[in-house]
Amino acid sequence: MGAVLGIDVSTTATKAILVDPAGNVLGIASSEYGVEQPYPLWSEQDPRLWWGGAIDAIRRALDSAGLAGDDVVAVGLAGQMHGLVLLDAADQVIRPAILWNDQRTAAECDGIRAVLGPAHLVEITGNDAMTGFTAPKIAWVRDHEPDAWARVAHVLLPKDYVRLRLTGDYATDKADGAGTLLFDLAARNWSPEMLAALRIDRAWMPTTFEGPDLTGVVSVAAAADTGLRAGTPVVAGGGDQAANAIGTGAVLPGRVALSLGTSGVIFATTDRPIYEPAGRVHAFCHAVPGLWHLMSVMLSAGGSLRWFRDAFAPGEPFGELASRASGIPAGSGGLLFLPYLSGERNPHPDPLARGAFVGLTLSHDRRHLTRAVLEGVAFGLRDGLDMMILAGMPEPKLILASGGGTASPLWRQILADVLGASIATPVTTEGAAYGAALLAAVAAGWFSTVQAAVAAVVRATPASEPGPDAARYIDAHAIYRDLYPALAPSFHRM
Ligand code: XUL
Repeated sequence: MGAVLGIDVSTTATKAILVDPAGNVLGIASSEYGVEQPYPLWSEQDPRLWWGGAIDAIRRALDSAGLAGDDVVAVGLAGQMHGLVLLDAADQVIRPAILWNDQRTAAECDGIRAVLGPAHLVEITGNDAMTGFTAPKIAWVRDHEPDAWARVAHVLLPKDYVRLRLTGDYATDKADGAGTLLFDLAARNWSPEMLAALRIDRAWMPTTFEGPDLTGVVSVAAAADTGLRAGTPVVAGGGDQAANAIGTGAVLPGRVALSLGTSGVIFATTDRPIYEPAGRVHAFCHAVPGLWHLMSVMLSAGGSLRWFRDAFAPGEPFGELASRASGIPAGSGGLLFLPYLSGERNPHPDPLARGAFVGLTLSHDRRHLTRAVLEGVAFGLRDGLDMMILAGMPEPKLILASGGGTASPLWRQILADVLGASIATPVTTEGAAYGAALLAAVAAGWFSTVQAAVAAVVRATPASEPGPDAARYIDAHAIYRDLYPALAPSFHRM
């Protein structure tokens, strides 16, 4: 029956994985590259690195599985969302891609709100203008780089540049499309009003497809580069968060996933677009046909623990650090930690927000500080979840949690207590690349729907239940919630 190939074009590497019809990972490879930060707040990458990474990762994944290109029956793409790739009429890259974590566009976000009106902007797109999104980046190039702007013939998202090199087609999926701030969220397609307001030519934008839809086939040139067979079908796939949600099983309305890596993402699948009136949590299309999702993104979740370990316990394994902290009772002896170490996105969209320990006394030692970091991340995630519940999604009873942070039993217990839900962890941890492979598996005819694919191959193990500490966290969280508004003026002056 062969294998399907999932490719994830991430910020740090392009990853390729090969999956068989039973959902087993047959081969995997990753090819790394760097990020350029030429000025403060900027974050850029040369799109050609992604294609070079894809060639390398695909060839090595095939080798590691002992498979030939002919064995691959379909390919799915996932990737870092919101990045801006600009191409000229000859498909040449005009300038480095501006990435999702670039923060230069605060003025352009204000400009977009002013042109559309903040409420109408949310009515159309489901979202407020945030610096990471694609639309303000397009406005930035329009207003700051007129020579580049004059050459624009195509606008693409990162994984879709790899698609272009693979198949020659200008195409994207609905999840990544919605992450540009140029989508009519309910219509699941480009908004003529948004494009006109920002003076973006509709002809520049790629055609949009549902996740498992075929967008093209591997070209003869790309076959020579990658070792794949010319003519292999390539499906739309999904932005990395939507693809990751498929890999962890969040494909039915009401299913909620938590990804606890450097960032912390709460992802809730919905059967309709849900609008938070001020756009304080993201509302995007899912990569599952006909579904949407709400999402709250904390920028430094696992990143907070890594910072703390590197600063105060260099070299100590995370497991040891956390197990020492488990001897301290819930509440960390009255110590609170704010995890806004690299600014914050949801529900406080503030690049100038900062981290803090609040409530230190002579009685605290490193174990209290460690536990406060784990609890502070959980409180911040709870703020995002509360905003999603206020917007109209049901309170979750079960959360499918993946990512490095979920390896800690203490952190899982804190999350179950603070989020008020059972935590289950998926067995396969290959994230977005695995989700992209499952979308390809649907196109290959192995499964009739994305939901059928997930039911057949994605398994989750029950991990933690809310316990007696849940009640103790309620007061601590109430105090935590008051700290950002109280400290924000100081953060901004700093
Ligand atoms: C999602 C987001 C990140 C990037 C990076 O909204 O900004 O997940 O896609 O991978």
